[in-house]
Amino acid sequence: MFSAPNHQVLDNPQDEEREHLVALDIELAEEAGEDEHQWKFQIRDLTKITNAGVPILKGIKMDIPKGVVIGIIGPSGSGKSTVLRALNRLWEPPTGTVFFDGDDICDLDVLNLRRRVGMLFQLPALFEGTVADNIRYGPQLRGKKLTDIEVYQLLTLADLDSSFLDKTGDELSVGQAQRVALARTLANEPEVLLLDEPTSALDPISTQNIEDVLVKLKKTRGMTTVMVSHSIKQIQRIADVVCLLVSGEIVEVLKPSELSDAKHPMAQRFLQLS
Ligand SMILES: Nc1ncnc2c1ncn2[C@@H]1O[C@H](COP(=O)(O)OP(=O)(O)OP(=O)(O)O)[C@@H](O)[C@H]1O
Ligand SMILES: [Mg+2]
Repeated sequence: MFSAPNHQVLDNPQDEEREHLVALDIELAEEAGEDEHQWKFQIRDLTKITNAGVPILKGIKMDIPKGVVIGIIGPSGSGKSTVLRALNRLWEPPTGTVFFDGDDICDLDVLNLRRRVGMLFQLPALFEGTVADNIRYGPQLRGKKLTDIEVYQLLTLADLDSSFLDKTGDELSVGQAQRVALARTLANEPEVLLLDEPTSALDPISTQNIEDVLVKLKKTRGMTTVMVSHSIKQIQRIADVVCLLVSGEIVEVLKPSELSDAKHPMAQRFLQLS
């Protein structure tokens, strides 16, 4: 499934480390089946270098099976948001580096791609108008008018009650706005959710409710989710596999229950301090 990009970019490509990654590769490939169309995303040698010549991503390689929750953790500035943004072309990756259902995403209609690959940002941004207007926005672009009941159901799914329907963005807390943004994203019936620290502004109860929604979406709709989180506990609760990103490289791929087995020195340090 995931693997570190190649030998030369690992700091210490010990045999033991390689075995570790390969074992997980095989296990998850079996879960996804032999059919390459089971891979929702394939990322190949994804590299980003700033105009000033500073490397941000260094040859990321990742295969993301359909219907799994992938957790991405790593220090601030390691490139987590940049990877997420590459998956729906908020940052345009080089051609031949990111494939969605087998197609190079650079060849796809970008608006259609963003409908199918929904994203929640670290800080939610709502459009003008009411909460209901926000939820209706995406389907309306495609000529579909959501009924009041459908809007209400989406709001409920995102852990908000009907009193929010007529409120505007400036009447909401950050955590409430984040939940509206989730409802708005789900209104587009995405196949993939890209979540950038989606619960960092939520209280523990709301966090748990949103986590329950993510697990339910996976079970009932086969949703594929890529979630950046600073909370190791959250990753352990809902992710099927965890990717550790350090300085633009995937240095470890682990099962959530085995995070303490991380071998990369930076990964160990990060986990100890988290
Ligand atoms: N447009 C840009 N131009 C130049 N450098 C950028 C740009 N966007 C991001 N960076 C740099 O790329 C690196 C990775 O940024 P990114 O936002 O992906 O990190 P992150 O892992 O999401 O961090 P955090 O946990 O703080 O959100 C950082 O060093 C950042 O300063
Ligand atoms: Mg970020």
